[in-house]
Amino acid sequence: MSDADKLSMFNWVYTEKVKEHFTDPKNILENPEYSEDGKGMVGSMACGDQMLVLIKVGDDDRITDIKWRTYGCASAIASTSVMSEMVKGMKLEEAYLLTPQQITKELGGLPEHKFHCSVLGDKALRAAIDDYLERQGRENPFQHRIAKVVCECKGVTDQQIEQLVKEDRASTLEQLQEETGLGTVCGKCKESAEHLLHDFLHIYGK
Ligand code: FES
Repeated sequence: MSDADKLSMFNWVYTEKVKEHFTDPKNILENPEYSEDGKGMVGSMACGDQMLVLIKVGDDDRITDIKWRTYGCASAIASTSVMSEMVKGMKLEEAYLLTPQQITKELGGLPEHKFHCSVLGDKALRAAIDDYLERQGRENPFQHRIAKVVCECKGVTDQQIEQLVKEDRASTLEQLQEETGLGTVCGKCKESAEHLLHDFLHIYGK
């Protein structure tokens, strides 16, 4: 593929906002002496990426500053850049509950197969908030409210599966896959998803 072809593919696949944040990412960690209040580092085997997020927190539990660094793809860079702009000034609770869907929406969308890259930034942010609260010797009051990602490749959470079961839209793994795309990339989530599905079917008497 020629360079011109690659460029036109890039233009076709990504929104203007993704391109803007990819080519000029905001809040990148540049100062090695940066002293953070909380630090989160996550890696995704499926994506082959690593993400570091550092935060500073004010007295009123608002994020006053955020820095990040990744060895990720264009989507991971753009997602984290836009996320870093979104969470500045945000209360810890709101930031903790931020979803990849909200970040992707802010970006004007991502190509379907790139969605899983956008779950890195918010995971690292949550890890940084966990770390901050731990350093403060405080309990994390938000943890139980967070949906757990079951399928990293498709960003499908346990709460989504629960909802589909409740609405009678999924009683088999095949139906779950049709509804969400879960398990259709690397497939490593299928077994745990099936267990979870079974549990929810039992809980809701389906
Ligand atoms: S984690 Fe890869 S398909 Fe679900």
